[in-house]
Amino acid sequence: MIQVTPAIKLFDLTGEVALVTGASSGLGWRFAQVLAAHGAKVIAAARRVDRLQALAAESPNIFPLELDVTRPQDFPAALDAAEAAAGPLTLLVNNAGWGGRDTSFEHSAEDWQRLQSTNVDSLWHLSQAFAKRLMARKQPGAIINISSVAGYLVSETPAPYAIGKAAVVQMTKALAFELARHRIRVNGIAPGYIHSEMTDDYLASEAGKAMLKRVPQRRAGEPSDLDGTLLLLASPKASAFMTGTTVIVDGGIALK
Ligand SMILES: NC(=O)c1ccc[n+]([C@@H]2O[C@H](COP(=O)([O-])OP(=O)(O)OC[C@H]3O[C@@H](n4cnc5c(N)ncnc54)[C@H](OP(=O)(O)O)[C@@H]3O)[C@@H](O)[C@H]2O)c1
Repeated sequence: MIQVTPAIKLFDLTGEVALVTGASSGLGWRFAQVLAAHGAKVIAAARRVDRLQALAAESPNIFPLELDVTRPQDFPAALDAAEAAAGPLTLLVNNAGWGGRDTSFEHSAEDWQRLQSTNVDSLWHLSQAFAKRLMARKQPGAIINISSVAGYLVSETPAPYAIGKAAVVQMTKALAFELARHRIRVNGIAPGYIHSEMTDDYLASEAGKAMLKRVPQRRAGEPSDLDGTLLLLASPKASAFMTGTTVIVDGGIALK
């Protein structure tokens, strides 16, 4: 008789302890809910603590953590606090991000610095701090980096954002290569346009409506459109042999 793991067990995250950055809104809020609903304990991190407390009120598996991802000097204490609340971390979801200014040439030197610090540097520093802990414990784990189709396409997205997201795609591959021997998988999700605080104004604008007509599926996604990919990459049973991959979830826009 062939042994087949039922889906409910394949995606059961009981025993996993996840840190999700940017959990106070949008995709991160949904990621925290989905991981918690599948049994993981979830540290929900961001700067707006009132939002995180509202999120944590929705599940006993979610714990709020105030964290500014542009302050790597705070990471050791933040990871200590996370592990004191929920136990040793096994999963990091690097989701926090900033959309940047509307056009490339509105970006000042400070804006460029803020954008890359939030969207690129933070993923590197947090992944390093997370991986060091797991390596010291000789414990397996996983990292999921949220990039964007903007990391692949040159389109409406201003260059500073696209450049940073392309760096995240490459970071995912490079870190996966280095961390494989430590049994830490590193994968990513590259969303297309998804409704969130970052995109809702644009999607409601004339330019946004015109853009949606060029999406093969003719719509923007909802955060829930990422649930299946998140669970696949988070589950050590479902994606044990996957590392270095970024899954594009975009309604087909990257096909063009
Ligand atoms: N929505 C889309 O269409 C789309 C498409 C492709 C990729 N993405 C990516 O998906 C991720 C989530 O975006 P979203 O659409 O959900 O946007 P969002 O609703 O604006 O959420 C962004 C999150 O990042 C957090 N954040 C920003 N700067 C931070 C900082 N310095 N320290 C800690 N947290 C910080 C925010 O929390 P606080 O302000 O409370 O700190 C917030 O929770 C981003 O990396 C974005 O680039 C989004």
